[in-house]
Amino acid sequence: MQLPDLSGKRYLVTGSTAGLGFFSSLQLAGAGAHVLMTGRHPKRLATARAAVIRQVPDAEVDTLLLDTSNLGSVRAAAATVRGRAGLHGLLLNAGVVHPPRHRTTTADGHELVFATNALGHYALAGELLLPLAAGRGRMVWVGSMSTSLWPYDPVDPELESGYTPWRAYVQSKVATTALGFEADRRLRAANVPIASLVAHPGYSVGGRTRGIAGINAPSRRQRFFGNLQAPITQSKEHGAWPLVRALVDPDAESGSFWGPSRVVGGEPRRASPAKITRDEDIAGGLWNYCEHATGIEWPYLKASRKRRRR
Ligand SMILES: NC(=O)c1ccc[n+]([C@@H]2O[C@H](COP(=O)([O-])OP(=O)(O)OC[C@H]3O[C@@H](n4cnc5c(N)ncnc54)[C@H](OP(=O)(O)O)[C@@H]3O)[C@@H](O)[C@H]2O)c1
Repeated sequence: MQLPDLSGKRYLVTGSTAGLGFFSSLQLAGAGAHVLMTGRHPKRLATARAAVIRQVPDAEVDTLLLDTSNLGSVRAAAATVRGRAGLHGLLLNAGVVHPPRHRTTTADGHELVFATNALGHYALAGELLLPLAAGRGRMVWVGSMSTSLWPYDPVDPELESGYTPWRAYVQSKVATTALGFEADRRLRAANVPIASLVAHPGYSVGGRTRGIAGINAPSRRQRFFGNLQAPITQSKEHGAWPLVRALVDPDAESGSFWGPSRVVGGEPRRASPAKITRDEDIAGGLWNYCEHATGIEWPYLKASRKRRRR
């Protein structure tokens, strides 16, 4: 995918130590952007930064510790970012993709998959609205095809009952996507100059992705199964394309959904999200739930709500 010159632009990527987040960071840095690579392990972050620099020697890449499953970590990282210059884009990519067998809760008391994939990103985006507005920037939430494949339970987003790893993943991805569209509606209503888009990477596997020391080192078995599934999979490098396109294409509109042309793989293009993720009642309920669970109200929206009350 051909990217425009991104010199002078600043992007923050969550979960940039592996997979789609790493390749998105690499693609952005390769186009001249300043990339803030974030992750929860200092050593993995240093390895990922070094891997980007090896391929793009003049890359402008900084690292920042950020564990999206931990609201304290999210607030601390956001405070550091707010102390720097404006932001042009936020890629909300970090995710638990292989959820634990049994329901697990975070230090804040939330179900791990929902907390990492959805709640932490709601909190981060809210905490970074000021630098994003300063850069007239955008946020991209990362959805999944799985949202069309399995029912969603709006009454129990954190699966207090009936937890299975797959259900937890789908709950988190429906929530992430619905929050992305709800953010678009609310930002528009409050006239905030920030776009919110959602993108999904099709089916992108490490077994079809080139090996990079410390980032992607698939076993022979993973390579074998990756190649066996070739018609329905793609590399994580290609999977990053729709995410990056949604992040940098000036013609990609707020509220739009992006994915690969053949759904599982291919060139990025506008796509159709699962119907449930466009349900405004469900999205509104999730938004209120996240406000309550994080104690974070998005700043400009709070002001517009107060104005409406007067
Ligand atoms: N691959 C696909 O086909 C596919 C399909 C649909 C959607 N997605 C979505 O795309 C995103 C990335 O997936 P991927 O395939 O690239 O997965 P991946 O290779 O497993 O990478 C996940 C990334 O998220 C990070 N992460 C996990 N928990 C975190 C936390 N608590 N705080 C901060 N970072 C955390 C990981 O960091 P560590 O190095 O610390 O573990 C890693 O950098 C996910 O949101 C996933 O749901 C992927």
